[in-house]
Amino acid sequence: MKKITSLSIAIIFSIGTILFINGCAATETVTAKSGAQIWGENCLRCHNAPDPVDYSDAQWETVGMHMKQRVNNLTETEINKVVEFLQSAN
Ligand code: HEC
Repeated sequence: MKKITSLSIAIIFSIGTILFINGCAATETVTAKSGAQIWGENCLRCHNAPDPVDYSDAQWETVGMHMKQRVNNLTETEINKVVEFLQSAN
């Protein structure tokens, strides 16, 4: 009985480790994209991708909040990168 218990723990631990490692790998490929790239791939799906010089830094913060509601496949980090990229132009 004791043997089974430690074996079960070992199996559960291994599955957990595999999921944990895969989880990290998947996140890394997504977040490795630059703000410019995320902008190019996502912000022209519904309208023309806005030009970085169109809005001030403060306005881009607001746009980021608005568009985060609409672009529901982007994470907080990715939206922040897009906003940083858009702000860097002016
Ligand atoms: C799912 C569709 C969709 C996607 C994807 C999308 N937008 Fe929009 N966007 C809209 C709609 C609809 C409006 C007009 C209504 C509004 O302003 O909320 C808009 C308006 C805007 C405006 C005008 C100002 C404003 O805040 O209303 C800007 C700038 C903008 N989007 C930037 C972006 C950026 C940057 C991205 C990428 C992160 C993006 N959008 C992705 C749908 C989208």
